[in-house]
This record gives sequence, structure tokens and C-alpha cells, in this order.
Amino acid sequence: SAVYRAGVSGTRPAVPTTFAGLEAAARAALGAEEFAYLAGGAGAEHTMTANTDGFAAWGILPRVLRDVRERDLSIELFGKRRATPFYLSPIGVLELAHPDADVAVGRAAAALDVPYALSNQASKPMEEVAAAMGEGSRWFQLYWSSSDELNASLLARAEAAGAEAILITLDTHLLGWRTRDLDLGFLPFTRGQGIAQYTSDPVFAELVRERVRSGAIGDPSAPPVKVTPRAIRTALGIARRGARTALVDGGALDALRSPLPRAAVETFLDVFADPGLTWERLARVRELTSLPVVLKGIVHPDDAERAVEAGFDGVVVSNHGGRQIDRSVATIAALPGVVERVAGRIPVLFDSGLRGGADAVIALALGATAVGIGRPYAYGLGIAGATGVGEVVRNFIAELDATLALAGATRIGDLGPGTLRAV
Ligand code: FNR
Repeated sequence: SAVYRAGVSGTRPAVPTTFAGLEAAARAALGAEEFAYLAGGAGAEHTMTANTDGFAAWGILPRVLRDVRERDLSIELFGKRRATPFYLSPIGVLELAHPDADVAVGRAAAALDVPYALSNQASKPMEEVAAAMGEGSRWFQLYWSSSDELNASLLARAEAAGAEAILITLDTHLLGWRTRDLDLGFLPFTRGQGIAQYTSDPVFAELVRERVRSGAIGDPSAPPVKVTPRAIRTALGIARRGARTALVDGGALDALRSPLPRAAVETFLDVFADPGLTWERLARVRELTSLPVVLKGIVHPDDAERAVEAGFDGVVVSNHGGRQIDRSVATIAALPGVVERVAGRIPVLFDSGLRGGADAVIALALGATAVGIGRPYAYGLGIAGATGVGEVVRNFIAELDATLALAGATRIGDLGPGTLRAV
């Protein structure tokens, strides 16, 4: 009712309420390449469409004449009571949407008591986002790197930055066949975007240093530079702005002749993921962190079973918003199979295709413990910065609250198979 009251009192919303409206407003606010990267999916985008269409297989069966004045949206997850079942899924390269990027999202999430999964592909170093979030709940999402030292460093930094859990994303050991980006010839990482977790990392700087030293890259007659995280960031920054030189660590860095921008991008492309990763090798994560470890990108019930047996602390049923395998199954269709196999032993989180509070009711009724918001908040960021993110998330919460009450329920735990009918 707070949302309605705000409107009636003449406060204009900063973002549209529907997903279609958000997408249209984001398209209008952003450049063509930026919008394509955020909005696009793999291949012909069949799976991206199926993720949202899949919810139509279920209808809510409302119950009436129940006293629903007092409602409680809270859930228990990773040892903590959370105000709502929502969290913000990790989204990389948010500088495409807004210059404040992850920092703006972190601020909005903290203000609403919604956990934010900081992306490995972030535009701002995790320490900067953590500082902006204060006590706000954050998780860190890791792409398991082919460099073990880099994994160790990122995990240690995440712990130090107050992460409550680690999400390891398993569906992106190669980049998907992203047709919109391919048509535009656009890959933000090659412009040095979305690699802030690396360019702020001492282990990454060491890897770049080795590459520069090996002489594989750059003009051998260029003046030598000290390869520090700051030098790498400066080099990428001036290369992107088309400037020629900058002062860094007491010396002049020549952007045109410096090997640093290329060395950083190529090092990133080498280490960002490990297509050779297996269950056996991933077990090593336990030596690197004492935080709960959650596997993101689980779709097959057998993989869910394996995750439980291997002692992981949760799974996320996700297909990366349809950005990786076109023709992979819609996550809402995959969710019941995973929930059944996991049988309550660990939490089952859900994302990909969630477009409002009513969708959340369906996913929660099918057994999800918590549900992740993806593209909608990125669009809110593109339209109106931190205010836009806050409104998008607030609208999800308000629609969940209203739908729950209208369906005759007062707690998330009231939702279950009896809430739904297959239609
Ligand atoms: C993502 N996603 C993602 N996932 C992840 O684990 N690490 C990441 O860096 C990213 N980056 C990213 C960028 C963009 C532009 C998008 C749209 C998505 C996937 C994300 O966490 C989530 O699974 C999807 O966004 C869910 O699908 P919807 O709801 O956005 O369609």
C-alpha cells in the first residue's frame, strides 16, 4: 500500500512497473551496444523467451476469507533471517547501464535489506561496493579461474569484504553464443570493461607482469613500466578515452606504446574461466574459504544430487538468463525436478525469467528458498541509477506482498503445491 499511497500523493515513479516498460525505457536511455549486452540472450533467444513464458504453465489458486492483515515475507537463508525471499543476482559490466554501476546497486540493495551477489565481472572492485553497502548483506559470485592463485586471492578478498556466501557460477566456462553482441562486434571485456575485480587484484597484476616480461606483447622499445593494479587501471582508462599519456607511479605511461592494456585484456581472457573444471577439482574450494559455497547454474537433478553429496551449501537453478545455451530448458520447468531431488537437504535458489512478485509466488510455491532478480534491476539502474534499482526491487516486494495476501497466505511458508494448478 505504500507504493499506491506514494502515487496518490503525487510522487511520480522513476521507473515503469512492468518488465516490458522497464525494457523499453532502458532501451531508450542506453546506447545500442550497451542495451544489446544487457538484454541479449544466446542464439535465437528461445531459452530467454522460454524462461518467462514457462511461468504460464502454472496458475495460482487463491483462497478467500482468511485474515491476511498481518503478513511476514521473511525467510531463513545461510544462517540469517532475511526480510524477503529476494536477492539480486550477479550481473557483470554494470557500467554499461550507469557509471555508478555496482556501487549504486549495492546502496539500493542495502537500503531494502535485500542481499546482493557481487559479480566476478563487476565494474567496481568488491571493496568499493562493500564500503557503500555498510552492513548490507552481500555474497560474492566467482567464476572459477584457471589460475588457482587468483581464485584464492578473490575468495580471500570476498571474505575480507564481508561476503556471507560464495556463489560459483558453473554455466559460463565458455562465453555463450551471444548473437546481438556478435552482430555488433561488441565484447565489453576487450575494452577493459567489467574486469574491475581483476584490475584491483595483486595476483592478477602479477600475471600481467609475467606476460609483459615474457615480451609476448607490445613494442619492445616502449619505456618499461611498473605493473601495478593502478598502472593497469590507468592504462586501460586512457586507452579507452583515446588519450595518449598519463602519469602513473612517478612515470609517464604512453598509452599507444604501452603493452599494459593488451596484456591485461589477454590475461583476463586466459584466466577468467576454466573449461577443464570438474567436481574433483572444485572440491578444493573448501581449502580456500570457510563461507557457505553455493553452485549457480544447476539444472539437472543429478547435478543437484552431486552438489548435496559433495557437501555444497546450496544450488541456484539458473540458466544465466538464457545467455549461455539456447534451447536449454526454462528454469521454472527445471525447478521442480531439482527441488524433488534435493528434498530439503540444502537451499534451492532460483533465477532466470523472474519478472514480478507473482512469478516469485510460483517459484516459491514450487519449492525455491529464495529468488533472484536479474535484468529488471539492471534496467532500473540504466533508467534512474540507484533510485531506479530501489524502485524496481521495491515493486517486486510490493507485488509479492499483495499477491500473497490476495491468494490467502500470510507467510512464505504457506506457499506450496496446493497454491498452484498446472494449466
Ligand atoms: C548476467 N548473469 C551473470 N551471472 C553470473 O553468475 N555472473 C555474472 O557476471 C553475470 N553477468 C550477467 C550480465 C548480464 C548483462 C545478465 C543479463 C546476466 C546472470 C544473472 O546472474 C542471472 O542468472 C540472470 O540475469 C537471470 O535471468 P534474467 O532474470 O535476467 O532474465
